[in-house]
Amino acid sequence: MQVILSLMIFQFMFGKLFKRNREQVKLFYNTDVHCHIMPGVDHGSQSMEQSLEMLRAEMEMGISRVILTSHVTAVTFENTRESLMDAFLKLKDAVTDEGLDIELELSAEYRMDEYFDKEYAADHLIPMPGKHILLENSFQQELMNLDELLFDLQIKGYKTILAHPERYSYYSHRRKRYEQLHNAGARFQVNILSFTGYFGEEARDSALWFVRNGMIDYLGSDMHNIKHAHIIMDYINSKEWKKLSKEIEPTVKNDLITM
Ligand SMILES: [Fe+2]
Repeated sequence: MQVILSLMIFQFMFGKLFKRNREQVKLFYNTDVHCHIMPGVDHGSQSMEQSLEMLRAEMEMGISRVILTSHVTAVTFENTRESLMDAFLKLKDAVTDEGLDIELELSAEYRMDEYFDKEYAADHLIPMPGKHILLENSFQQELMNLDELLFDLQIKGYKTILAHPERYSYYSHRRKRYEQLHNAGARFQVNILSFTGYFGEEARDSALWFVRNGMIDYLGSDMHNIKHAHIIMDYINSKEWKKLSKEIEPTVKNDLITM
C-alpha cells in the first residue's frame, strides 16, 4: 500500500513538472533586454546556482539571448566594466560547462545619478549592441535635467531606453510626459512583471496604458530571482497575456538590438 502511495505521489509530482514544461507558452521574442542574472554584483542573483536556474527559466520561455543589465548606482552598486566583466566571464564559463544553449551579452542598467555622470564623462559606459543604453530614473522624482541628459546622450550616438517607466508613480497622473519623452527620442522598456500586478495596481494600470498607446518598444523580465521568473512564466500562460501580446508585438524591438 505504501509503495503504491509513493508511486502515486511520484507520478503526481513529476507529472506536474512535465506538464509545466510541456505547456509553457513562449515569449514572441528571443532577447531579454533587462535582467539581474549576473551572480553577486547587485541585489539580483546571489550565486552561480541561482544564475543558472534563472537562465534555464529564460530558455523555457523561449529566450535564447540575454543582455545582462546589472545595476550601476551611486554608493550601493558602483559597478565598473572590470567588476562586471569578471562575473560575466565566470557566468559564461558556467553556461558552457552546463551545456546551456543561450547567448549572453554584457551591459548594465544605469541609474541616472552622480555616479552615472562620472562614468559617462569618463566614457566608461557599457552600452548594449548598437549603442543602446538602459537608463533608470529615481523612484522618488524625475531627474531635474532629464531632457538635457537624454538629448546629450542621443547627440553622442546613444539610443536611450528608459527602464520600466510604468513603475514611477510620479508619472501616473501626468502621462502626457511619456508622450513628450517618446517624441524626444526616448524609448520605453516595460516589465512583464508589471502586468501581473507584482508592483501594484498603479504600475499595472500604467503598463496597460502603454499597450493602449502603442508605446512599448521593449519588454523585459527585470528578473532578480527565480521567484520573478516563475511569476512571469505563469503569467504568460494566461489568456490575458495571449490577448495583450498580440497588441504589443508590432512595436516590440527586442531582437533588433544588434550591432
Ligand atoms: Fe532592473
